[in-house]
Parts: sequence; structure tokens; C-alpha cells
Amino acid sequence: MRVLGIETSCDETGVALYDSECGLLAEALHSQTDLHADYGGVVPELASRDHVRRLVSLIRNILDESSVPLSKLDAVAYTAGPGLVGALMVGAGFGQTLAWTLGIPAIAVHHMEGHLLAPLLGAGGDIELPFVALLVSGGHTQLVRVSGIGAYEMLGESVDDAAGEAFDKAAKMLGLDYPGGPALARCAETGDPGRFTFPRPMTDRPGLDFSFSGLKTFTLNTVSATEPLSEQDRADIARAFEEAVVDTLVIKCRRALEATGCTTLLMAGGVSANRRLRSALADRLDARVLYPAPALCTDNGAMIAYAGCQRLLAGQRTEHVIAVRARWPMAELPALAPG
Ligand code: KG4
Ligand code: ZN
Repeated sequence: MRVLGIETSCDETGVALYDSECGLLAEALHSQTDLHADYGGVVPELASRDHVRRLVSLIRNILDESSVPLSKLDAVAYTAGPGLVGALMVGAGFGQTLAWTLGIPAIAVHHMEGHLLAPLLGAGGDIELPFVALLVSGGHTQLVRVSGIGAYEMLGESVDDAAGEAFDKAAKMLGLDYPGGPALARCAETGDPGRFTFPRPMTDRPGLDFSFSGLKTFTLNTVSATEPLSEQDRADIARAFEEAVVDTLVIKCRRALEATGCTTLLMAGGVSANRRLRSALADRLDARVLYPAPALCTDNGAMIAYAGCQRLLAGQRTEHVIAVRARWPMAELPALAPG
């Protein structure tokens, strides 16, 4: 089955062509980083308009590159939520219309399920069930017990800011460029880990929930007490912040593995591109740790094509209605029968 995937939930227009027999045939991505840079964050209306501008030419490019004509598509998968409503509507409207015109099925994909399944794209779907997934993006921080596609038990999540959001806000306080996560991680490389110690929120009590908003206040207070900031001050604060987030995530992942008895941890979402987090999880957990290739950590069309394909192969379809959900709990997704 050959599936066109469309991702437009936030500030990346991602498209990809996935073939269930041959794997990923082609993918293309346009990042709106430059468009939003002056505003220090994503401007929803600008994001939607830019998706409209990019989508057709990106899809043409991947069809040309893979020599697959529109008539050889078997289905269209698109992100239907969670995300920015206007941005989602562009992908959903386009995906549904294209599928209807071609007379092929469409499937609405949950963005976080796309992230969750992304590491399996490279691994050929090979993973032992059940496993624990750590989903860390700009909008979500979640620990999930996964016993199959769509069989998700929420173990814990952030009660306030997501990990990526905390990275972005801390970066802004340090005067670093948007998007903040990668910029802060780069800045932290030359930081002294011993100079500042930041708290590890909610690790001193049982439970698997997260809270990152206190770290934000701690960062602001540290910046105010240290100003004017030298390059070294910036790097030292960035390093302390990154250490605190990474350490907190490692502690909670260990707890989740112990609580569930699982021996595999899969990490996905934009923050899973963070190198310190990747190596800390691999080094400090007594578990098999899987994460996506760097290009598949942040938003992309390949994960949507792949996730959609798994559901289509199981016989699922979305009726030809253009509907999206800004909020969409993953636990509401239907589970696929074990195959
Ligand atoms: O998954 P994603 O592309 O979009 C959402 O679904 O939100 O995640 C974007 C988030 C942003 O907050 C970004 O700052 C963060 O992922 N991020 C990183 C890194 N790369 C991206 N955070 C820390 N270190 C990184 N290397
Ligand atoms: Zn995402």
C-alpha cells in the first residue's frame, strides 16, 4: 500500500510517500522557522497561510522524485490533531479533497501517535510489546505504556508546560534564537555543569507526572541575579537547565519502567533530538532505548504516512469529512487488533 502523508499541525509543512512493501519512497519538509523568528514563537495565522503556499509544490516534488503518479496512490494520511486548528485544517482539507477526488481512502492521524511510531519506521516495526514511550515535544510531555498500536495507557504527563515549551521559554530568557530547544542545547555545550544547580521538579514524591513551569521561574530568577549575562554565564545557565530537564526525564522514565515491568523505552518528539537526553537515557537506564533518526524527531510527513499506513492496513478509514481536533487525548484512539 502506497500512502501519501501530510503534516501541517504547527510550523512545519511535511509530506512523504510511504510504501508498506518498500518503505519510505520520498519525503520533503518546509520549516517556517524564518517566518516566525521575528515574533519569537509561532504565529498561527501565518503558519496556516504558509502551509497553503507550500503544500502543492512539496507534494509535486516527492511524486516526481519517486516517479509515482497521483493515480498510483492508494491512500492519503493527514494530521487531524492535536495542533493549531487553522494549520490542521489546511492539511485535512487538502488531504481529504485529494483522496475524494482520486477515489481512494483517507485516514486522520493523531500527531502524537505519528511521533510515537516514528522510531519504528527505521526499525522496520520490530519492537517488543509492551513498552514505555516517552513523548517529548513542544506541546506534550507524556509517559505512555504501549501494548499495541492504539493501545495506550497514559502513565503520566506534564501538569503545565511541556518539556519543549520549557526549552523554548528558557532560551528566550537567555536571548537565544527561536526555536529555542536546539539553540539552548548548542549554547549548553560550553557550559560549566557545576556552577548552577536547578531543581528536578516533582522527583521528590511518587508519581509519573511532570511540571516544568517552576524551572522557568528558576531560570528567570537566575538570569536576573546574574545580569548582565556574559557568553559564559549564558552557557552555564543553559547547561544547568538542560541537566535539570534531562535528569528529571531520566528519573521518571526509570520509574515508569519499574512500575510497568517493561524493558524497552521508546522516546520520540522534538526534544528526543537532544543529544544529552539521548545519551543519558541510553547510559543510565537498564533498558533497551529506541529513538528516531534525528530528522524524524521533529515534525515531519514520514511519521504521518507511516502511522496512517498501519491503521489503513488494519482496515481503518476516515469518512470524507474535513474535521480536526486542536485537543485530542491519545487514549481516545481505537486500538488495532493484535496482528
Ligand atoms: O515535535 P516537535 O517538532 O513539535 C511539536 O509537536 O511540538 O517539537 C518541537 C519542540 C520545540 O519545543 C523545540 O525547541 C524542541 O522540540 N527541540 C529540542 C531540540 N530540538 C527540538 N529541544 C531540546 N533539544 C533539542 N535538540
Ligand atoms: Zn510534533
